Amino acid sequence: MEIKKIACIGAGYVGGPTMSVIAQKNPHIQVTVVDLNESRIEAWNSSDLEELPVYEPGLDAVVAEARGRNLFFTTEVEKAIEEADMVFISVNTPTKTYGKGKGQAADLKFIELCARQIADVATSSKIIVEKSTIPVRTAATIKSILDHTGKGVQFHVLSNPEFLAEGTAIPDLQNPDRILIGGEDEAAIQSLKSIYEAWVPSERIISTNLWSSELSKLVANAFLAQRVSSINSISELCEVTGANVDEVAHAIGQDTRIGSKFLKASVGFGGSCFQKDLLNLVYIARSYNLIEVANYWEQVILINDHQKTRFAEKIIRSMYNTVNGKKIAFLGWAFKKNTNDTRESAAIYVADHLLDEQANIAVYDPKVQENQIFKDLDYLASRSSEENRSLLKVVNYSYEAAKDAHGLAILTEWDEFKDLDWKRIKDSMKKPAFVFDGRKLLDRRKLEGLGFVYYAIGE
Ligand code: UDX
Ligand code: ADP
Repeated sequence: MEIKKIACIGAGYVGGPTMSVIAQKNPHIQVTVVDLNESRIEAWNSSDLEELPVYEPGLDAVVAEARGRNLFFTTEVEKAIEEADMVFISVNTPTKTYGKGKGQAADLKFIELCARQIADVATSSKIIVEKSTIPVRTAATIKSILDHTGKGVQFHVLSNPEFLAEGTAIPDLQNPDRILIGGEDEAAIQSLKSIYEAWVPSERIISTNLWSSELSKLVANAFLAQRVSSINSISELCEVTGANVDEVAHAIGQDTRIGSKFLKASVGFGGSCFQKDLLNLVYIARSYNLIEVANYWEQVILINDHQKTRFAEKIIRSMYNTVNGKKIAFLGWAFKKNTNDTRESAAIYVADHLLDEQANIAVYDPKVQENQIFKDLDYLASRSSEENRSLLKVVNYSYEAAKDAHGLAILTEWDEFKDLDWKRIKDSMKKPAFVFDGRKLLDRRKLEGLGFVYYAIGE
């Protein structure tokens, strides 16, 4: 089946950048990205490329090239689905906040809604591609809904998980390690494969059965998260033994079997995927009564929670066991650098812990907006939203955050923080001036030379 028109449901962090690159590389295919969220679509259509709803280095250039040519963003969901030969489902699959599996299982209501909507409007055969991360066997659910509620047209369901990381989405999409396609129908797999072959060498396109593909996505994220928790657990051991976690990471990373990537100790991993996918994996294992398997993977999350708590407690302990009424500067709020995404960011939980102790926090992040920061805190419902607003302020410059602060914490590894005038910061802070480096971004010798009391994870 030759694909002439693609629709993608969901214009978020996955759908937006992925479709932009597919459209850029396949100028002969019309790609329409739809979303129910009008303001999001409006932002995707903004003539000012700084206004795109997703911040990703290089995304603006790709959008500028393809938008209006063969890439379109619209809220006309039904029209786009009806016309498409292939429909990508790229909607959010958050962790359930109610009922059975609350706090663990993935909430599939958005996926199911999509399937019903596709079945409702489709009058010609379509290939349905799962892009969203989902539990194993979701394809069966989608297929069942399509077959039972559709108008008798043929649907082929494929799994095509996305492995891009935020902050590097465009290079990840343009030069992927691999593309994974799971499915049963050879012709449908070939159709999807041909879209990627426009720029990805065939040997990097792997096809598997549906369930292997769905599970591989969860397992890839679980393994990555496990590496971070592994090195973070060692960071605590380093702090008490005098070892340095960066040196340990470097030494073990030279072993090609271990590899050097993804071994940076931090205040804890965040992002929309790791915790959600781990919880999902744990839930699936439990539901098959694989208790040891579930407990094993759950530890990865427990260590991550511990790392965030430990960092907050270190701040409190160092500042003479009280932060009540003290100003603490937060540099960074995003879950990693080069993104405006804050989902599950360690900063949220560290802030919450300090606010419980009545600290005053001043946050600066180069890309995260003030309303998002308050949304993140209010969502935890630890205190009233008025109280969050009175204890925490969002400011426009690092120097403003640091002025008169008793302590400064680095929560996101934005490059610009390295190049700040640290002497100026020291002079403007209360003394002793504490720096808590949750990203191991700064140079201890330099900071101590300037007179800071410097703490870094894993040293
Ligand atoms: C992750 C996967 O990498 C990606 O393949 C998948 O598609 C989605 O989930 P993402 O969450 O965007 O991507 O970012 P990633 O770079 O994996 O970082 C996740 C978190 O781990 C961040 O908070 C990051 O700061 C942290 N991290 C990562 C570390 O603390 N140390 C490391 O060495 C690597
Ligand atoms: P991700 O990181 O997986 O891309 P996001 O939350 O950034 O997740 O994006 C998912 C998008 O999907 C949101 O913008 C949401 O409005 C959209 N969405 C969810 N359900 C539907 C639906 N039934 N139809 C259209 N858009 C939807």
